[in-house]
Amino acid sequence: MAIVHVTRELPGDALQRIPAAGHKLVVHPGTMPPTPAELRRVAADADALITTLADRVNAELLDAAPRLKVVANYAVGTDNIDVQAAHRRDIAVGVTPDVLTDATADLAMTLLLAVARQVPVAARAVIDGAWTTWDPSGYLGLGLRDARLLIVGAGRIGRATGERAAAFGMQVTYAGRDADLHALLPDADVVSLHVPLSPQTRKLIGEQELAAMKPGALLVNTARGGLVDQDALVDALERGHLGGAGLDVMTPEPLPPHDPLLALPNVLVLPHIGSATVAARHRMTELAVENVLAALDGDPLPNPAKG
Ligand code: DGY
Repeated sequence: MAIVHVTRELPGDALQRIPAAGHKLVVHPGTMPPTPAELRRVAADADALITTLADRVNAELLDAAPRLKVVANYAVGTDNIDVQAAHRRDIAVGVTPDVLTDATADLAMTLLLAVARQVPVAARAVIDGAWTTWDPSGYLGLGLRDARLLIVGAGRIGRATGERAAAFGMQVTYAGRDADLHALLPDADVVSLHVPLSPQTRKLIGEQELAAMKPGALLVNTARGGLVDQDALVDALERGHLGGAGLDVMTPEPLPPHDPLLALPNVLVLPHIGSATVAARHRMTELAVENVLAALDGDPLPNPAKG
């Protein structure tokens, strides 16, 4: 009987397939992820781990897990896992692709629409009692028809976001892996990020890239906070060079309560909910379980991580 540790309670019924297959299922209790020390403790007897992006799976943890065969990440991203260190130890790493593509693209559009139409500012005015009358010149935003959207990352979620934006009449350009970002940024009214976080993409959008963006342009990030130099972003927003930002991801998560991003007017910060639809999260549980059961049967993972 294999032991499968899951670091959080997961939506749906699919975890029950683990005991049904004759394995022991242990779910970390409570609403917070395990601390690194707790994770090391449970890893000691684990044959399989189901982790979330809040769990750091590094070489030290893997060394504390002599029986481990698979880490099934409950995410499409793997930046919380040292995938190469796992592979060097013959530990498979699984991900949950495709099933969250639509949910994440929907949320990118939600953020895009919100900051394009000054929703954070307008909603705050209503709550604060600052909305005194209908104002012909108040809260004027960007109309999406013919506005230019630069999608950085031409993978599944980037393409799905581009399809949605095109249906709103936006002119969509994709910046793939080898694109010259600096040549593309000045033309965009909105830049939306859809690349994985890696050593190559960390701070992909820094001071120079933000300066290259059109004055008043908007930034949307549903990928990973580490893609953006956040101090430079705050500076560009405070100076009014950027017109706003819609952020589902940031560094750290959650932001401290007095983080300057939270005080900026046309900035919408969400608690990393890109994949948070009932259907997507249920399917993610199924995919994570399928990765675990395949590894415990000695089969290749249906959805392995790259690298
Ligand atoms: C992912 O899958 O990488 C998301 O950020 C969480 O769903």
